[in-house]
Amino acid sequence: MTDSIVMEPLGGLKRTCYCGQVRPSHMGTRITLMGWVQRRRDHGGLIFIDLRDREGVVQLVFSPDAPAVHAKAHDIRSEYVLAVTGDVRMRPDGTQNTGLATGLVEVAVTELKLLNDSAPLPFMLEDDTDVSEMTRLKYRYLDLRRPSLQNKLVLRHKVAMSTRNYLSENGFLEIETPVLTKSTPEGARDFLVPSRLNPGAFYALPQSPQIFKQILMIGGFDRYFQVVRCFRDEDLRADRQPEFTQIDAEMSFVEAEDVITVMEGLIRRLFKDGIGLELKTPFPRLTYKEAVGRFGLDNPDVRFGLELVDLTETVRNCGFKVFDDTVAKGWPVKAVCAKGCAEFSRKDLDDLTAVAVSYGAKGLAWVKLTAEGWQSPIAKFLSDDVKAAITKALNAATGDLILFAADKPSVANTVLGRVRLNIGNRMGLIPKHGFNFVWVTEFPMLDYDETEKRYVAVHHPFTAPMDEDLARLDTDPLTVRAKAYDLVLNGSEIGGGSIRIHRSDVQSKVFGKLGISEDEARLRFGFLLDALSFGTPPHGGIAFGLDRVMAIMTGSESIRDVIAFPKTQKAADVMSEAPSTVDQKQLDEISIRVVKKKAE
Ligand code: AMO
Ligand code: AMP
Repeated sequence: MTDSIVMEPLGGLKRTCYCGQVRPSHMGTRITLMGWVQRRRDHGGLIFIDLRDREGVVQLVFSPDAPAVHAKAHDIRSEYVLAVTGDVRMRPDGTQNTGLATGLVEVAVTELKLLNDSAPLPFMLEDDTDVSEMTRLKYRYLDLRRPSLQNKLVLRHKVAMSTRNYLSENGFLEIETPVLTKSTPEGARDFLVPSRLNPGAFYALPQSPQIFKQILMIGGFDRYFQVVRCFRDEDLRADRQPEFTQIDAEMSFVEAEDVITVMEGLIRRLFKDGIGLELKTPFPRLTYKEAVGRFGLDNPDVRFGLELVDLTETVRNCGFKVFDDTVAKGWPVKAVCAKGCAEFSRKDLDDLTAVAVSYGAKGLAWVKLTAEGWQSPIAKFLSDDVKAAITKALNAATGDLILFAADKPSVANTVLGRVRLNIGNRMGLIPKHGFNFVWVTEFPMLDYDETEKRYVAVHHPFTAPMDEDLARLDTDPLTVRAKAYDLVLNGSEIGGGSIRIHRSDVQSKVFGKLGISEDEARLRFGFLLDALSFGTPPHGGIAFGLDRVMAIMTGSESIRDVIAFPKTQKAADVMSEAPSTVDQKQLDEISIRVVKKKAE
C-alpha cells in the first residue's frame, strides 16, 4: 500500500450496473461500478483504467480537472478492487474500440473508493497467458478472473439450467441420490470413505447413481434426472477427472428408441440455448460392428475418411509369413490408405509404429506407392498379383501410403483406429469447427478379460441383452449384443446408456456370467435383486458427461478448462493441497492405521 491512498469500506454505496454492460444508452447518466483493475495507463494528464468485472471491461477516465480522484488514481495498481462513480460519455472520435462491447463509451470518474489492494501477481491475467498450467491451478482464483475461463463457466451454468428446464418440461423429476453409498460398478476403482460408527466398514463414493436411479423407477417415479457428481479412481487424461458431472436420466416403460429421441431433444436444446446452434436430428447411427470395422474404435471420429479396409481375403496365402500366420488363426489383416502420405520420412513411420506398438501391435507394415512402384519392407514377400489386389482394394494411387495391422480383431482395429487419428491430426484432415454427432448402438454385452480370465460387462452389469440374442448367453456369450447406445461427439464419448435388465432372474444369470458368485451377488447387490423381484417396470436411461460436452462446446483442449476447481493428472488439487495427511486423532477415530508402502 502507498500512503496517499487508503482503503475504504463500501459505506452503503450500491452498484448500479456491471462494467461490461455500460452502453451508449447510458450516455449522460451517472453510474456506480465495482470491479478489478485490469490495466492502468498514465498519459501524463489523463489516467485511464480498464475496470473489469464478471460481465466485461469498461474504460474509466481520470482527469486532472478532478484533482482529488486524479491523485488517488495515480497509486492504483493491477487487480486493486475499486468502487467508482462517474458520468458515462461517448469516446472521442478515433478512440472508439469496436472490438469491445463497451468500446464506444467511457466513464469520467467523479468519485473513487479503493476497496482493497492486491499483492503483485504471480502471472499476467491475460487470455493468451503462457504461464504453466500448474501455476494457474495453484492460483486458481486469479486464473478464474480471466474472461475466457469466466465465459466457459457462465456457459456451463446456462447449459445446466437448460438441462433442468428441458428435462423438467418433459416430465423428469430431479431427485438426489446418496453420495455415501455402496460400490456401483462402472469399470473404475472406488473412492472409499471409512465409517467412524462402523469400524472396518466403508462407504464407496458413487461411480454413478446407476443402481439408485433404477430403484427410483421401481419406486414408481417414472422419469428421473440429476445433474450429479460422480467419482472414479482411474488414470486421468485430458477428458477424465476423478470427480466429474453427469447429466443422469432414467425412464420407465420405454425402449431404446424412446430414450434416444428424448435425449436428442435435450442435446438440441443445450446447443441452441448454449451457443445458438440449430443441430439437425435424428443424429446418424452406426452399429458397434460398423464403427469398429470402419474406424477401429467404438468412439469413432467420423469427421474424416481414412477408413479401415479388411484385406483378409485379399492376402490369404499371400506368402508373407506375418499375414499368413494371422489369417490361419482366423484373425484379420486390415489396412488404411493415407492419401498423399508417401512422402512420410523414416521418422514419421517410426512415430506411427510407436503409436501402433503402444496399442499392442507387433509391427506396422507399410507401403509407399511411388512412381517406381512399391517401396516397402514387405514388397519382396508379395507377388505382383497380390500387390495389385491390395492396391485395388484400397483404391490406392501413386503418392499414397498404406499401413497394415495383422492381429486379433481387437488389436488390429484399435491399432489402425489410433494410427488413423494420428494421421488425421498430422495431415490436418480433422475439421477445426463443427459438431459431429453419431450414436453407436448394438454394443456387445460382454468382453473377455484375458488377465482375469473371466467375462466383463462392456457397459455395466445391469445392461439388458438384445431379445433376439438372449438365447446365446449360455452358448456363445461374446456374440450377445446389448440394448446399449453411446453418443459420440467429434470422436469423444459424451454419453452412454442402455435398456436395463428388469427381471431378477435374468440379472442373477448375468451376474453369474460375469463370474460373480451367488453369495457375492447377494452381498454386493442383494438389495437390487430383491427390488427387481417386486414388480419392476421395463426401464432404461443414459448419462452424459457434462464436462466433456462443455469442453467440446467451448473448443477447450481439456475438461479442466470447464471445471472451476479441477484436479491434476495425479488427482491433486494444487490450490488446496488435497489430498493431504491427517492427524493421528482423526485416524484413530475411524480405526484406520496407515501402512507405509515398502520402497520398490
Ligand atoms: P458411463 O460410465 O458411460 O455410464 O458414463 C457416462 C458418461 O460420463 C462421462 N465420463 C467421464 N467424464 C469425465 N471424467 C470421467 N472420469 C468420466 N467417466 C465417464 C462420459 C460418459 O459417456 N451409469 C451409466 C449411464 C447409464 O447407463 O445410464 C454410466 O455412468 O462422457
Ligand atoms: P518382419 O518380417 O517381422 O521384419 O516384418 C516385416 C514388416 O511387417 C515390418 O515392417 C513390421 O513392422 C511389419 N509387421 C510385423 N508384424 C506385423 C503385424 N502383426 N501387423 C502388421 N505389420 C507387422
